[in-house]
Amino acid sequence: MTNKIYPDSGVELTPFIAKNYDSVMNAASFGLYKGFIKKAIKNMAIRPEDHLLDLGCGTGRNAALMAGYLSEKGKITGVDLSEVMEKQFNRKFKNDPRVSFVRQRADIPFNLGEKFDKILISFVIHGFPHEVRLKVLENVVSHLKPGGEFFILDFAEFNMAEMPAFHRFVFKTIECKYAFDFVERDWKQILSGYGFGNFKETLYMKKYVRLLKAVKTEAGEK
Ligand SMILES: C[S@@+](CC[C@H](N)C(=O)[O-])C[C@H]1O[C@@H](n2cnc3c(N)ncnc32)[C@H](O)[C@@H]1O
Repeated sequence: MTNKIYPDSGVELTPFIAKNYDSVMNAASFGLYKGFIKKAIKNMAIRPEDHLLDLGCGTGRNAALMAGYLSEKGKITGVDLSEVMEKQFNRKFKNDPRVSFVRQRADIPFNLGEKFDKILISFVIHGFPHEVRLKVLENVVSHLKPGGEFFILDFAEFNMAEMPAFHRFVFKTIECKYAFDFVERDWKQILSGYGFGNFKETLYMKKYVRLLKAVKTEAGEK
C-alpha cells in the first residue's frame, strides 16, 4: 500500500498481499493456520441466531467459518477498508444473503445503525498505534448489545525479552513495530476501563496467540 494511514502498520496490506492473504497465511504457518482458525471460531460459541460484526474482515475467511454456525436468522457484517478485500469478500458471499460487507475504516467513529451480539477483530488491532486501538474500542462498545461479547483474536500477552531467541527473531522480523507494545499490554485491564468483564481466554500456537472474550457489562452501557 503506497499511502498508509499509519506508516508503520503491518495490517494495511499491499494489494498483492491482500489478494493472496489466505494463501500467505497458510504458507507462513506451514499449513497450521487452517486448523487453528477453525478451532478459534468454534471457541466463539456462535449461536444460530447471532448477529455478528467482523472488524477488519479481510477476505471473509473467518466469516465463512462463522456462517457455518448460523441459521437463516443469523447475520454477519464484515467491515474493512480495503477494496481488494471487499471484492474477495463479496465474491465469497454472493449467494448468501445473511452476509454483507461495509467498506469502512474501523479506527474512526462510525455508525452501522444496529447493535451486534458478538464482535470479532482478528489480527487487526495489534497493527495500530495504541491511541488508535482505543478509538476502535469505542466503536466496539457503541456497536455491541448489552451483554454482547467482544472477541480479540490476536497475539497473546507475553514479554518479548523472555521469548526463546529464535521465536523473538521471527516475531521481530515479520511483525510491525506496533505489535511489540501490543503484546506487553494488559488487555483485560484496558477492556475493563471500557466496561468489559467476564473475560475468558484461549491460547493457541505455543501460547503466542489468544482468543480473548470480553463481555459488555452494565458499566459499558453508560
Ligand atoms: C492481517 S489482515 C486480517 C484479516 C482478517 N481479520 C483475518 O483474520 O483473516 C488485516 C485486515 O485489516 C484491514 N484493515 C487494516 N486497517 C484497517 C482499518 N483502519 N479499518 C478497517 N480495516 C482495516 C486490512 O485491510 C486487512 O483486511
